[in-house]
Amino acid sequence: MKNLVLLMGLFMALNVSAQDIVLPKPVTTGGMPLMEALSKRSSSREFSAADLDNQILSNMLWAAWGFNRSDKRTAPSANNKQELSLYVVLKSGAYFYDAKANKLVQKVKGDIRGKMGNQDFVATAPVNIVFVEDKSKKGAGATDSGYISQNIYLFCASENLATVVRGWFDANVVKEALKLGENMQPILTQTVGKKK
Ligand SMILES: Cc1cc2nc3c(=O)[nH]c(=O)nc-3n(C[C@H](O)[C@H](O)[C@H](O)COP(=O)(O)O)c2cc1C
Repeated sequence: MKNLVLLMGLFMALNVSAQDIVLPKPVTTGGMPLMEALSKRSSSREFSAADLDNQILSNMLWAAWGFNRSDKRTAPSANNKQELSLYVVLKSGAYFYDAKANKLVQKVKGDIRGKMGNQDFVATAPVNIVFVEDKSKKGAGATDSGYISQNIYLFCASENLATVVRGWFDANVVKEALKLGENMQPILTQTVGKKK
């Protein structure tokens, strides 16, 4: 009982709600040499249903759109508007990637993966990433999203994971399922998982 109270106090002190996922610190060294990763980069549409562990998830999200300087990131952004957010859709729910806190903040509970696209594998692959543009920032989301997507592709090549970027989804369905605000627009999606 005493331990439980201590644990709850710790969570409150860290401002973490029980459903959020605190990611382990990303490992930002190592990986495959760049030219080898470029040689292996490809799209794959066959995914194992197995979950990715949180360390891989943390490393991948940092590679995608993490901070590599105090206020700038692993992908460029026109006029540094940083208008894009990544939402991570797992079996357990949908989460906002808080890159500064290295945390997945739960926005939706339950499995909504099937709403993230029109291809069968979307509903069963462990991770779907949604690129959401804050239109009020008047940035270059369509261009900026390509850099983030390629970062994910190269990370997946380096880690022998499967991935495919997807433009074939219903933005209204995704927007509603993720409970996004008026200015927040899903513009691209990408599926990631272990190879089948
Ligand atoms: C903007 C964009 C949208 C795409 N949308 C889809 C999609 O909805 N579904 C899909 O299976 N592949 C999609 N792709 C992946 C392409 O089909 C793939 O990149 C192309 O066939 C070349 O294959 P490669 O990535 O293995 O080189 C998309 C690629 C881009 C760049």
